[in-house]
Amino acid sequence: MSSIGLLAAALLNASGKGVALASEFADMPALKGKDYGKTKMRYPDYTETRSGLQYKDLRLGSGPTPKNGETVVVDWDGYTIGYYGRIFEARNKTKGGSFEGGDKDLYRFRLGSQEVIPAFEEAVSGMALGGVRRIIVPPELGYPDNDYNKSGPRPTTFSGQRALDFVLRNQGLIDKTLLFDIELLKIVPS
Ligand SMILES: *[C@@H]1O[C@H](CO)[C@@H](O)[C@H](O)[C@H]1NC(C)=O
Ligand SMILES: *[C@@H]1O[C@H](CO)[C@@H](O)[C@H](O)[C@H]1NC(C)=O
Repeated sequence: MSSIGLLAAALLNASGKGVALASEFADMPALKGKDYGKTKMRYPDYTETRSGLQYKDLRLGSGPTPKNGETVVVDWDGYTIGYYGRIFEARNKTKGGSFEGGDKDLYRFRLGSQEVIPAFEEAVSGMALGGVRRIIVPPELGYPDNDYNKSGPRPTTFSGQRALDFVLRNQGLIDKTLLFDIELLKIVPS
Protein backbone atom coordinates (compact mmCIF):
# COMPACT_ATOMS: atom_id res chain seq x y z
CA MET A 1 0.00 0.00 0.00
CA SER A 2 1.27 3.44 -0.82
CA SER A 3 1.79 6.14 1.75
CA ILE A 4 -1.22 7.92 0.35
CA GLY A 5 -3.34 4.84 0.79
CA LEU A 6 -2.23 4.49 4.36
CA LEU A 7 -2.79 8.14 5.02
CA ALA A 8 -6.25 7.97 3.54
CA ALA A 9 -7.10 4.81 5.43
CA ALA A 10 -5.95 6.29 8.69
CA LEU A 11 -7.99 9.41 8.12
CA LEU A 12 -11.04 7.63 6.80
CA ASN A 13 -11.21 5.66 10.00
CA ALA A 14 -10.91 8.72 12.08
CA SER A 15 -13.78 11.12 11.61
CA GLY A 16 -15.96 12.96 9.18
CA LYS A 17 -13.41 15.69 9.11
CA GLY A 18 -10.77 13.13 8.24
CA VAL A 19 -12.64 12.16 5.12
CA ALA A 20 -12.38 15.66 3.72
CA LEU A 21 -8.74 15.80 4.66
CA ALA A 22 -8.02 12.41 3.14
CA SER A 23 -9.56 13.22 -0.19
CA GLU A 24 -7.77 16.52 -0.23
CA PHE A 25 -4.41 14.85 0.22
CA ALA A 26 -5.20 11.93 -2.04
CA ASP A 27 -5.83 14.35 -4.87
CA MET A 28 -2.50 16.04 -4.54
CA PRO A 29 -0.24 15.01 -7.39
CA ALA A 30 2.70 16.48 -5.53
CA LEU A 31 2.43 13.73 -2.94
CA LYS A 32 2.36 10.82 -5.37
CA GLY A 33 5.30 8.50 -5.02
CA LYS A 34 7.07 10.91 -2.74
CA ASP A 35 9.07 9.76 0.16
CA TYR A 36 7.58 11.46 3.16
CA GLY A 37 9.70 13.83 5.10
CA LYS A 38 12.90 14.01 3.14
CA THR A 39 12.16 17.33 1.55
CA LYS A 40 9.79 20.09 2.33
CA MET A 41 6.64 19.88 0.31
CA ARG A 42 4.76 22.72 -1.23
CA TYR A 43 1.04 22.06 -1.12
CA PRO A 44 -1.14 23.42 -3.90
CA ASP A 45 -3.97 25.70 -2.74
CA TYR A 46 -2.02 26.79 0.29
CA THR A 47 -0.49 30.19 0.81
CA GLU A 48 3.10 30.11 1.98
CA THR A 49 4.29 32.91 4.23
CA ARG A 50 7.82 34.17 4.54
CA SER A 51 8.46 31.97 7.57
CA GLY A 52 7.63 28.83 5.62
CA LEU A 53 4.21 28.34 7.14
CA GLN A 54 1.58 27.16 4.67
CA TYR A 55 -2.05 27.88 5.32
CA LYS A 56 -5.50 27.76 3.84
CA ASP A 57 -8.61 29.37 5.26
CA LEU A 58 -11.38 26.81 5.48
CA ARG A 59 -13.65 29.58 6.65
CA LEU A 60 -12.92 33.27 6.65
CA GLY A 61 -13.83 35.03 9.85
CA SER A 62 -15.91 38.17 9.79
CA GLY A 63 -14.89 39.67 13.12
CA PRO A 64 -11.81 41.57 14.23
CA THR A 65 -8.26 40.27 14.06
CA PRO A 66 -6.59 39.81 17.46
CA LYS A 67 -3.77 42.11 18.46
CA ASN A 68 -0.56 41.42 20.28
CA GLY A 69 -1.19 41.04 24.00
CA GLU A 70 -4.78 39.95 23.60
CA THR A 71 -5.89 36.54 24.79
CA VAL A 72 -7.54 34.31 22.23
CA VAL A 73 -9.74 31.28 22.70
CA VAL A 74 -9.41 28.63 20.01
CA ASP A 75 -10.57 25.17 19.19
CA TRP A 76 -7.98 23.04 17.45
CA ASP A 77 -7.32 19.67 15.87
CA GLY A 78 -3.86 18.29 15.19
CA TYR A 79 -2.61 15.67 12.76
CA THR A 80 0.78 14.20 12.03
CA ILE A 81 1.45 14.22 8.31
CA GLY A 82 4.39 11.85 8.22
CA TYR A 83 2.87 9.28 10.53
CA TYR A 84 -0.09 8.18 8.43
CA GLY A 85 -2.02 11.35 9.15
CA ARG A 86 -2.60 10.17 12.65
CA ILE A 87 -4.70 12.47 14.79
CA PHE A 88 -3.17 13.67 18.01
CA GLU A 89 -5.93 16.05 18.96
CA ALA A 90 -9.54 16.16 17.86
CA ARG A 91 -13.05 16.54 19.04
CA ASN A 92 -15.67 13.97 18.22
CA LYS A 93 -13.35 11.06 18.68
CA THR A 94 -13.85 7.74 16.99
CA LYS A 95 -15.46 4.93 18.88
CA GLY A 96 -12.98 2.19 19.63
CA GLY A 97 -10.17 4.30 18.26
CA SER A 98 -7.19 5.50 20.16
CA PHE A 99 -9.04 8.48 21.54
CA GLU A 100 -11.43 8.41 24.41
CA GLY A 101 -13.56 10.89 26.27
CA GLY A 102 -15.95 13.58 25.20
CA ASP A 103 -15.42 17.18 24.34
CA LYS A 104 -12.18 18.73 25.40
CA ASP A 105 -11.74 22.17 26.85
CA LEU A 106 -11.09 25.06 24.56
CA TYR A 107 -7.56 26.35 24.46
CA ARG A 108 -6.59 29.89 25.30
CA PHE A 109 -3.30 31.74 25.04
CA ARG A 110 -1.99 35.27 24.88
CA LEU A 111 -0.66 36.52 21.57
CA GLY A 112 2.94 37.62 21.73
CA SER A 113 3.68 35.77 24.96
CA GLN A 114 5.39 32.81 23.28
CA GLU A 115 3.13 30.36 25.03
CA VAL A 116 2.52 28.57 21.75
CA ILE A 117 4.58 27.27 18.84
CA PRO A 118 5.56 29.96 16.29
CA ALA A 119 3.22 28.55 13.66
CA PHE A 120 0.21 28.91 15.95
CA GLU A 121 1.15 32.43 16.89
CA GLU A 122 1.57 33.47 13.27
CA ALA A 123 -1.57 31.75 12.06
CA VAL A 124 -3.88 33.18 14.70
CA SER A 125 -2.38 36.67 14.40
CA GLY A 126 -3.62 36.76 10.82
CA MET A 127 -7.09 35.34 11.39
CA ALA A 128 -10.37 37.12 11.88
CA LEU A 129 -12.77 36.12 14.63
CA GLY A 130 -14.94 33.21 13.57
CA GLY A 131 -12.48 31.91 11.01
CA VAL A 132 -11.09 28.40 10.59
CA ARG A 133 -7.57 28.08 9.27
CA ARG A 134 -5.68 24.94 8.30
CA ILE A 135 -1.92 25.19 8.67
CA ILE A 136 0.97 22.98 7.62
CA VAL A 137 3.76 23.32 10.11
CA PRO A 138 7.37 22.51 9.27
CA PRO A 139 9.47 21.36 12.24
CA GLU A 140 11.23 24.71 12.64
CA LEU A 141 7.89 26.41 13.32
CA GLY A 142 6.66 23.62 15.57
CA TYR A 143 7.49 22.32 19.01
CA PRO A 144 10.90 23.48 20.27
CA ASP A 145 13.31 20.67 21.17
CA ASN A 146 10.67 18.25 19.90
CA ASP A 147 8.94 18.64 23.24
CA TYR A 148 5.23 19.38 23.35
CA ASN A 149 5.53 20.33 27.03
CA LYS A 150 7.56 23.43 26.21
CA SER A 151 5.05 25.23 23.98
CA GLY A 152 1.36 24.90 23.44
CA PRO A 153 -0.90 23.61 22.28
CA ARG A 154 -0.44 20.40 24.19
CA PRO A 155 -2.50 17.35 23.26
CA THR A 156 -5.14 16.82 25.91
CA THR A 157 -5.32 13.03 25.85
CA PHE A 158 -2.65 10.55 26.78
CA SER A 159 -2.96 8.76 23.46
CA GLY A 160 -2.65 12.06 21.61
CA GLN A 161 0.47 12.93 23.57
CA ARG A 162 1.92 9.53 22.82
CA ALA A 163 1.23 9.84 19.08
CA LEU A 164 2.76 13.30 18.88
CA ASP A 165 5.72 12.36 21.02
CA PHE A 166 6.44 9.36 18.83
CA VAL A 167 6.69 11.55 15.75
CA LEU A 168 8.61 14.37 17.40
CA ARG A 169 11.21 12.11 19.00
CA ASN A 170 11.79 9.89 16.03
CA GLN A 171 15.25 10.38 14.65
CA GLY A 172 15.14 11.10 10.95
CA LEU A 173 12.73 8.40 9.89
CA ILE A 174 9.43 10.20 10.14
CA ASP A 175 8.53 13.58 8.78
CA LYS A 176 7.79 15.89 11.67
CA THR A 177 5.55 18.17 9.62
CA LEU A 178 2.27 18.70 11.43
CA LEU A 179 -1.15 19.86 10.33
CA PHE A 180 -3.52 21.85 12.50
CA ASP A 181 -7.02 23.18 12.07
CA ILE A 182 -7.61 26.24 14.21
CA GLU A 183 -10.91 27.96 14.87
CA LEU A 184 -10.75 31.42 16.40
CA LEU A 185 -13.67 31.54 18.80
CA LYS A 186 -13.07 34.49 21.03
CA ILE A 187 -10.79 37.46 21.56
CA VAL A 188 -10.44 38.67 25.14
CA PRO A 189 -9.21 42.27 25.28
CA SER A 190 -6.13 42.79 27.41
C1 LIG B 1 -19.51 16.61 17.03
O1 LIG B 1 -20.37 15.81 16.24
C2 LIG B 1 -21.73 16.20 16.32
C3 LIG B 1 -22.55 15.20 15.54
O2 LIG B 1 -21.91 14.85 14.32
C4 LIG B 1 -21.88 17.63 15.79
O3 LIG B 1 -23.22 18.04 15.89
C5 LIG B 1 -21.01 18.54 16.63
O4 LIG B 1 -21.06 19.86 16.09
C6 LIG B 1 -19.57 18.06 16.62
N1 LIG B 1 -18.79 18.89 17.52
C7 LIG B 1 -17.67 19.49 17.13
C8 LIG B 1 -17.03 20.33 18.15
O5 LIG B 1 -17.20 19.36 16.03
C1 LIG C 1 5.58 15.88 29.03
O1 LIG C 1 5.08 15.80 30.35
C2 LIG C 1 4.49 14.57 30.70
C3 LIG C 1 4.02 14.65 32.14
O2 LIG C 1 3.27 15.80 32.35
C4 LIG C 1 5.50 13.43 30.55
O3 LIG C 1 4.86 12.21 30.82
C5 LIG C 1 6.05 13.43 29.14
O4 LIG C 1 7.05 12.45 29.02
C6 LIG C 1 6.63 14.78 28.78
N1 LIG C 1 7.01 14.76 27.38
C7 LIG C 1 8.22 15.11 26.97
C8 LIG C 1 8.45 15.06 25.52
O5 LIG C 1 9.09 15.46 27.74
